[in-house]
Amino acid sequence: MGQQIGEQRPDLHLGDPDGPSVVTPHGKGAKDTETHQVTVPAANHQPIVRGPGHGEAMNTNREIHLVTRPAGEPRPENFDLVTTALPDLAEGQVLVRNSWMSVDPYMLDRMREAESYLPPFQLGAPMEGSAIGQVVASRSADIPVGATVAHFLGWREYAVVDDAAVTVADLSLAPEQAWLGALGTTGLTAYAALTQVAPVREGDVVFVSAAAGAVGSIAGQLARKLGAARVIGSAGGPRKTRKLVADFGYDAAIDYRAGSLAGHLAAAAPGGIDVYVDHVGGDHLVAAIDALRHGGRIAMVGAISSYYANEPVPGPGNLFALAAKDATLRGMLINSYFHLFPEWIGKAAGWLADGSLRTELTVAEGIEQAPAAFLDMMHGGNVGKMLVKLSD
Ligand SMILES: NC(=O)c1ccc[n+]([C@@H]2O[C@H](COP(=O)([O-])OP(=O)(O)OC[C@H]3O[C@@H](n4cnc5c(N)ncnc54)[C@H](OP(=O)(O)O)[C@@H]3O)[C@@H](O)[C@H]2O)c1
Repeated sequence: MGQQIGEQRPDLHLGDPDGPSVVTPHGKGAKDTETHQVTVPAANHQPIVRGPGHGEAMNTNREIHLVTRPAGEPRPENFDLVTTALPDLAEGQVLVRNSWMSVDPYMLDRMREAESYLPPFQLGAPMEGSAIGQVVASRSADIPVGATVAHFLGWREYAVVDDAAVTVADLSLAPEQAWLGALGTTGLTAYAALTQVAPVREGDVVFVSAAAGAVGSIAGQLARKLGAARVIGSAGGPRKTRKLVADFGYDAAIDYRAGSLAGHLAAAAPGGIDVYVDHVGGDHLVAAIDALRHGGRIAMVGAISSYYANEPVPGPGNLFALAAKDATLRGMLINSYFHLFPEWIGKAAGWLADGSLRTELTVAEGIEQAPAAFLDMMHGGNVGKMLVKLSD
C-alpha cells in the first residue's frame, strides 16, 4: 500500500517572534507541544458538497501556484491562490481534506529553474510538499474514508492522491501535526545527522545551529539522549536563545546576531567541540571548524545563510584544518535515511508520550497564508516547526 511515513521528495511577516505566543491544549501522545499562532484568521471557505458517492464529494479546491520564479529572495507576488475544479477520483485514488501542511527551506530550491535532487515546481501549477489530512472519499481498496494519511500534495486544501503515495498515520502514537514534525522528515533529519553522519559519542560536546528551528530544537535534546555531555545551540535573538536553554535542553545558547560567533563559541566550549550539526554554513561553519577537536565530526545538513545568494558563496577558508584535526565533514540528504523511519518513530513516539522530547509549532492559519508562512520561516519567524493549518 502506501509508502513509509514522511517518505517525501522533499514579503509578508506574519508574526513577531518575540511577541506573545498562544499555548494550546496538548494533543494526545504529545505532552509537551507548544503552539504559537502567528496569523490573521483565514477567510471563510465553504466547500461545495456535491452529494453522496464514495464518501464526501467536493468539486472545488483552493491551491497555491507558483506563478513566477523568484530572482533571489521570493516575494508574495511569486505565488497565487487559485480556485480549481477537483477531478473525479480514478480507481485507486483517494480524496484527502488536508488539515496541515509543512513549509520547509528546501522548497526554495524547487521554486528556482535549476534542477536539483528534485525537479523545479512547474509554473502555473500547485506546489508540492508534506501534508496530512483525512480521507473524505475513496476509490481505494486499501485506504478507507476516515483514515488520516500523510502524503506529498500540500499547498492545497484538498488533494487527489494515489493510494500508493499515502501513508496512514497512527494517531494513537501522536497527533496529526507531529507526523509533519518530530515523527516526519524533520525529526528523522536530526536522528540521521547525530547517529549516522556525525555520530555523537558518550561525553561529546555538541554544537547545533538554527537550534530553535524545526530540526535544531529536536537535535539538541537528541544529542543529550545519545550521551552528549554538553550541548550548545545558536539562534537569532534573545527570545530564541532563552528558549534553547529553558525548553530545548541546551546547556548554552549563542545569539549569532550579537557579537562574534567565534568568540561566543569559544566561551561556551572552551575545550572545543566534537560534533557540529550545520544548518547555516558561512560564519557558523568557519567557527565550528576552528573549534573542532581532534577526530571531530560535522554533519552538513543545511546552509541557510547562503540560500538567497545570487552568486556561489565561497567555502570556508579554514577547510584544510580538518586534515590536521583528522576530522570529518559529511553532507547528508534525508532521502537516503528513510529506512530509519521505523526505528526513529519507535523512539520518538515514546519520548513524545513520556514528555522527554519537547516540541513546538508555529502555526499559520489558512491556505492563503501559506506563502507568507514560508517566507516568515526563512526569516526566522518560527520557533520549532512552521506549519500551516488548513482545516480542523
Ligand atoms: N539535508 C537534508 O536532507 C535536510 C533536511 C531537512 C532540513 N535541512 C536543512 O536544515 C536546516 C534547518 O531546516 P528546518 O526545516 O529545521 O528549518 P528551521 O530551522 O525551522 O527554519 C529555518 C531557520 O533558519 C534560521 N536562519 C535563517 N536565515 C539565517 C541566517 N542567515 N543565519 C542563521 N540562521 C538563519 C532561522 O532561525 P534564526 O531565527 O535562529 O535565525 C529560521 O528559523 C535548513 O538549512 C534546511 O535546508 C536539510
